[in-house]
Amino acid sequence: MIIIADFGGQYNQLIARRVRDMNVYCEVVPYTKALGKAKELKPEGIIFTGGPNSVYLENAPKIEKEIYELGIPVLGLCYGMQIMAQTLGGKVVKGKEKEFGKTETKVDNSSKLFKDLEEDQITWMSHIDQVVELPDGFEKIAGTKNTEIAAMANVERKLYGMQYHPEVNHTEHGLKMLENFLFNICEAKPNWTMKNYAEKQLKEIKEKVGDKKVLLALSGGVDSSVVAALLSKAVGEQLTCIFVDHGLMRKNEGDEVEAAFKDSGMHFIRVDAEKRFLERLKGVVDPEEKRKAIGEEFIRVFEEEGKKIGSVDFLAQGTIYPDIIESGIGDAAVIKSHHNVGGLPDFVDFKEIVEPLCMLFKDEVRRLGRELDLPEYLVNRQPFPGPGLGIRVIGEVTKEKLDILRDADYIFREEIGKAKLENHPNQYFAVLTNNRSVGVMGDFRTYDYTLALRAVNTTDFMTADWARIPYEVLDKISVRIVNEVEHINRIVYDITSKPPATIEWE
Ligand code: XMP
Repeated sequence: MIIIADFGGQYNQLIARRVRDMNVYCEVVPYTKALGKAKELKPEGIIFTGGPNSVYLENAPKIEKEIYELGIPVLGLCYGMQIMAQTLGGKVVKGKEKEFGKTETKVDNSSKLFKDLEEDQITWMSHIDQVVELPDGFEKIAGTKNTEIAAMANVERKLYGMQYHPEVNHTEHGLKMLENFLFNICEAKPNWTMKNYAEKQLKEIKEKVGDKKVLLALSGGVDSSVVAALLSKAVGEQLTCIFVDHGLMRKNEGDEVEAAFKDSGMHFIRVDAEKRFLERLKGVVDPEEKRKAIGEEFIRVFEEEGKKIGSVDFLAQGTIYPDIIESGIGDAAVIKSHHNVGGLPDFVDFKEIVEPLCMLFKDEVRRLGRELDLPEYLVNRQPFPGPGLGIRVIGEVTKEKLDILRDADYIFREEIGKAKLENHPNQYFAVLTNNRSVGVMGDFRTYDYTLALRAVNTTDFMTADWARIPYEVLDKISVRIVNEVEHINRIVYDITSKPPATIEWE
């Protein structure tokens, strides 16, 4: 395995993705815990991420010198390279000019890091600080016009640094460079597969749960369906799946989930909780508060259901890795407290929470689902957030607004399905904005809601591009929605990618 020490950079998840895509298991840990983790887990290699700080400032994140003495190869990226250089006796200063974007770079292809690569490379830079003096024992292995030392190496101690970001696609052969680090320098083995993961999880769940009972929060989405399959295999009859219909589901979805699981052989309970959720959401407008309110209400429903069944020790959830990372580990900023992580109340009346997917990315979860023989229609569902339409109705959530959104969203999804687009978006939905505008319908003035349509192409849901849906399809959708759904008189299409926007609006 590889440990990724997180210094708060924006590409942390991407680095982890790249490593796993090469079938090497890795975990992202805050830089403060990296040394301890490295000693405990004895990884094949360590990668330091970038970060927003400057190493020469007083409170800049630092890592213990001991980490370089473990004999484990280390690759520092951007800030990671600078902190390595500074800690080991080199010098880092603020550069004269910011270097940002695609940059012509000359690499020393006799270095193991650049094996099988041409000397001239395009790399992706995003920095102003730079290493100007190498620490003892290091040599320069790459440079650019503005950055004399764009990569460095201490071959004997297996310590490497790159000023640019190999994990970003714009570094044309970045993947090859990472691959060289993993396989030529760390000598890692590409043996991380879903089959291994499934077997390991089944064993761990059995050991953890023993003969106790487990409640699973099942939403019918990919993640919780995969957890259901995994738990059902691991503990069979001890599992009860609870589907909390919070009234924030899409059109007909509650019934569809019930139909998919009712006769699956698992204990399945549907709880109609629409009233209590809407009551709880009254007057709540802040997105983070909504997530927290919904997360808390969820837990209270499970606690009540658990009491009915009696002596339930474990609550299982389909939390996945990005939920945890985006909810903020280490110094990374909190983007959204995904309800099943940051939205959990402080007190939860279960002995333990079981989250067997909490180390997986979305596409890995799908692969695991296939490994567990889940039907393709479940494995391939587009993600639907735990807080449901609660975060797609901007501002206060009411039953009236939810019904408007449900009808519009249904038409959007139906038309996208019918259009059979070549580049089918991976997630698409409607958002009911809180904005009203003046329109004219028949001969009358209207003052109704603006609906936003969102469709993205993505594989990992951490970065995404807005989907280029043909105008004719958008037109058909727009005409249908304003004609068929009352209280919508204007429709806009969201043309921002992630980053800088996020996929959901809240
Ligand atoms: P964002 O909006 O962060 O979304 O770009 C990334 C993916 O996560 C989903 N999402 C959530 N899922 N609870 C969830 O379970 C949440 O609070 C939440 N917020 C966003 C979103 O639908 C997308 O697939």
